[in-house]
Amino acid sequence: MRVSRTSCCYSLLILASYIGMGDKVTENIFKWVTNEPKIVNGAANICRLMDEIVSTEFEQKRGHVCSLLDCYKKHHGMSREAGIQECQKGVAIAWKDINRDCFRPTEVPMDFLTRALNFSRFMDVFYTDKDNYTHAEGLMKTYIKDVMVDPIPI
Ligand SMILES: *[C@@H]1O[C@H](CO)[C@@H](O)[C@H](O)[C@H]1NC(C)=O
Ligand SMILES: *[C@@H]1O[C@H](CO)[C@@H](O)[C@H](O)[C@H]1NC(C)=O
Repeated sequence: MRVSRTSCCYSLLILASYIGMGDKVTENIFKWVTNEPKIVNGAANICRLMDEIVSTEFEQKRGHVCSLLDCYKKHHGMSREAGIQECQKGVAIAWKDINRDCFRPTEVPMDFLTRALNFSRFMDVFYTDKDNYTHAEGLMKTYIKDVMVDPIPI
């Protein structure tokens, strides 16, 4: 999980999302975010686990490296379904960790937590039921168009 979590780059992306926040981003914030706080690891776990659930079969077909789900299945001698259930439990635990880090008083200002929280929420858009990240068609195309192509009237 530790190795696999790193592969989704979420701690880097969360850190990158702080660019442009001005003077609020102190050295302490960098220390905090690189020290694997629960909310950042939780976001990364959700990304990794939700991706595993929907994409492993397809990724193996195109000769991908071994997946977290396959390692877990082999290690525990489990079926794919049981492995998926374990992944779902991991997602539930990650959400509890994320919620806990948002309780007041928070370790860092809420602005920084909200970004990690939103990265976690975003996984529901990509990975609920289907791998809409790899197969970005249908509704996903509309979302991309809304964000990148069509201006949003304010
Ligand atoms: C987080 O998501 C909420 C709900 O979509 C949105 O209103 C808010 O602007 C987002 N905040 C940040 C910092 O991304
Ligand atoms: C995800 O993919 C499925 C199957 O192609 C599609 O029905 C659904 O609308 C897609 N969801 C999003 C958010 O793109």
